[in-house]
Amino acid sequence: MSRERGARTAGRGRREVWSPQPRQEAFMRRFEDEALYGGAAGGGKSDALVCEALRQVHIPHYKALILRKTFPQLAELIDKTLNYYPRVFPRARYNDQKHVWRFPSGAKVIFGSMQYTKDRIKYQGQAYDFIGFDELTHFTYDEYSYLFSRNRPNGPGTRVYMRSTAHPGGIGHGWVKERFITAAKPMTTVWENVDIVFPDGHTERRRKSRIFVPSSVFDNPALLRNDPDYITRLASMPEAERKALLYGDWDTFSGQVFTEWRNDSERYTDRVNTHVISPFRVPDSWSIWCGLDWGYSRPFSVGWYAVDHERRLYRIREYYGCTGTPNQGVKMDPAEVAREIKRIEAEDPNLKGRRISRVGDPAIWGSDGTESIGALMERERVYFGKGDHARIDGKMQVHHRLAFDEGGVPMLYVFSTCKHFIRTVPSLVYSEKDVEDIDTDGEDHIYDELRYVCMENPIAPRLRKTPPPEMYDPLDLRMEQQYDRYDFYRRY
Ligand SMILES: Nc1ncnc2c1ncn2[C@@H]1O[C@H](COP(=O)(O)OP(=O)(O)O)[C@@H](O)[C@H]1O
Ligand SMILES: [Mg+2]
Repeated sequence: MSRERGARTAGRGRREVWSPQPRQEAFMRRFEDEALYGGAAGGGKSDALVCEALRQVHIPHYKALILRKTFPQLAELIDKTLNYYPRVFPRARYNDQKHVWRFPSGAKVIFGSMQYTKDRIKYQGQAYDFIGFDELTHFTYDEYSYLFSRNRPNGPGTRVYMRSTAHPGGIGHGWVKERFITAAKPMTTVWENVDIVFPDGHTERRRKSRIFVPSSVFDNPALLRNDPDYITRLASMPEAERKALLYGDWDTFSGQVFTEWRNDSERYTDRVNTHVISPFRVPDSWSIWCGLDWGYSRPFSVGWYAVDHERRLYRIREYYGCTGTPNQGVKMDPAEVAREIKRIEAEDPNLKGRRISRVGDPAIWGSDGTESIGALMERERVYFGKGDHARIDGKMQVHHRLAFDEGGVPMLYVFSTCKHFIRTVPSLVYSEKDVEDIDTDGEDHIYDELRYVCMENPIAPRLRKTPPPEMYDPLDLRMEQQYDRYDFYRRY
């Protein structure tokens, strides 16, 4: 946007530096404690966020914090403010050592990054009236929720709230989708009860609100005018990226590991082209497996699987130790978990009286073998075999099992009652560091437990009859088997 074109003349001869477009205005008018803006590329998200931060800069003690995941990414935001802020507040000063704007009143807008979760200590002991996250799906829920405690008034008269922008994809895709996108229809306030226990023991219920305000490039005429090819670039991307970035589709996204995953509620009973199916009574002749991934401050995961005569796995029951906050563990001791496993196995009609083979996270056996988690569970007569931790082999097994045959039948089905599996496994993304493996900062405990069970029941890759259509191979250089192999590796 050129300065001249962006600057319009407002009343009394003042030049208007920036005015919100209708969608941005809808976002900036919201009253909720938290709001997410965007859901696709190019909707004027970052512009709206940096301008929102200015709302209270006339109040001397006001402090705003604007976050991006890494520092280099922040540069783009800072450039925006270097363009806009001085034109509105000629006496505002930017300190590029500290990355802080200081306004004539004394108010501050501070830029920060949080490349690693441990970087949150940079914000410890600070209070920010306004907190803005740009590209929220680059953050984990832990990082976002830590900042809740920093969102406090610096003095009387400020409004305290948080605003974010995001498009689909990234380590935080799963939790952002759940918190803002699927929690309610767009533009609908979600109310959450928060119970506060006071030192004298009485409890008070407070309410917190949040909302999703969608926008896409189609809501940004300024961009369409200045860069008409932007939309062409988005439209020519591979399908997953195109759907996500152009239309804000949160069901497929770039970086997703298990792109084969399908959850089609219309097919829960005929079980075609869906992994999720309706529960049923497992025949007595099928064998039963139980997998464990241990966690204490992170969730633990216990999953029960039935194996049919074709070696197909059915995840029939789960026990997931999560507090309700994504990726937060319930901190239960191993003996208690073991007792609960036994209780479930005694009561679930599909598990009662069955011989169950168990396999667990090899890390549950400490080197001395005495007080290890495995040993504590054994005292409760719950025995786990040591799982095979080979990560890439395990991941390939999961891919082989998720692949559909010509009839639309996979080798892994999941009962629709296994809510946490359905929530977490499809949201896993690739690691930036180890490009063939998943990003272990995600909520991967159920996936790990599934991996141990798959490695005990390995299957061969299933050959596909037709190569995936997007592959261009005019000289027919690739052999059929390679399609299976390559298709499962990361696609850029
Ligand atoms: N209200 C507005 N007025 C003029 N230009 C705008 C406005 N909002 C966004 N733009 C321009 O549109 C482009 C994309 O906006 P940006 O906020 O960076 O999008 P996003 O963060 O959604 O990808 C930028 O050049 C930006 O300056
Ligand atoms: Mg942006």
